[in-house]
Amino acid sequence: MKILVTGGAGFIGSNLALKLESLGHEVIVVDDFRGSKKENLKGFAGNVVYGDVAHFDFSALGKVDVIFHQAAITDTLIEDEKEMMDANVGGFRNVIFFAESCNAKLIYASSAGVYGNNAAPNKESDELNPLNAYARSKAEMDKIARNYDGSIPLIVGLRYFNVYGPGESYKRHASSMAYQLAQQMKAGKRPRIFKFGEQKRDFIYVKDVVEANLSAMEAKKSCIVNIGTGKPESFNAMVKNLNEVLGKNLEPDYFDNPYGFYQNLTCAEVSRAKEKIGFAAKYSLAAGIKDYFRENGIS
Ligand SMILES: NC(=O)c1ccc[n+]([C@@H]2O[C@H](COP(=O)([O-])OP(=O)(O)OC[C@H]3O[C@@H](n4cnc5c(N)ncnc54)[C@H](O)[C@@H]3O)[C@@H](O)[C@H]2O)c1
Repeated sequence: MKILVTGGAGFIGSNLALKLESLGHEVIVVDDFRGSKKENLKGFAGNVVYGDVAHFDFSALGKVDVIFHQAAITDTLIEDEKEMMDANVGGFRNVIFFAESCNAKLIYASSAGVYGNNAAPNKESDELNPLNAYARSKAEMDKIARNYDGSIPLIVGLRYFNVYGPGESYKRHASSMAYQLAQQMKAGKRPRIFKFGEQKRDFIYVKDVVEANLSAMEAKKSCIVNIGTGKPESFNAMVKNLNEVLGKNLEPDYFDNPYGFYQNLTCAEVSRAKEKIGFAAKYSLAAGIKDYFRENGIS
């Protein structure tokens, strides 16, 4: 099949583009590199096209069968609502328009951020509570998808939880906790986490996220589903797993949480993903961390 991956130079997009290519598909990446480096696509043989998805004339690419829309401003600290909405929501509308012109299936990245500080586990039917410009842009995309009454055969939104894995190094402060703590620990420093490390997150390995996208392509009906493990793990467990894989024995350096309000637990309700797209995560945190740091030649 001929497949477009927007944001395909980014963390998740590059993992997805490389996997799709390894499965024998013709893959085109469109990215404007505002948040990524071409190095992520080392070994990728398909076309890499520079373009801002909000304004790009996709018709220049010819017809495609499937679109995986990953491009987005992903920095949750950006407060400029207009910049965020123009890029993320404007980009989504332009991609839908292109999907319509090709009659292509569309799978897009939403985010667990749409749930804000709702109590866990988060269900897709929960009222949304986005707390920053990024999360509001994703909630708006989900609204557009839910109300979509156009002609494309499939539109599937994937609400990723906390993704970690190879290809995220350039994301700096927006990279995963696994990556940031590993950097500290490799430098021989004690990993800094909030007191007393029992906060939990639904961490999901990027290879599972890629599988979720592949499964979504085969969905029978349009839907929006959570992509998490449904098994949250604590910050202390993250440190323990990193110590094991990096061959260290570093105690956490606990510090006071500066936030007035902080989510102590995030967790995806995962039954709908199983039912609608046939996806269930395979990697536990221990298995994901092992695979991640082995793959990078670190352990
Ligand atoms: N990483 C996570 O934990 C996570 C969690 C929830 C949702 N998501 C979503 O998954 C998708 C991929 O995230 P990621 O972690 O790989 O982020 P990333 O920042 O690594 O990748 C995003 C890519 O999109 C590109 N991009 C941004 N705006 C663009 C535009 N207007 N036109 C063209 N390219 C543009 C960037 O250059 C980058 O290559 C995003 O939509 C993000 O919102 C990620």
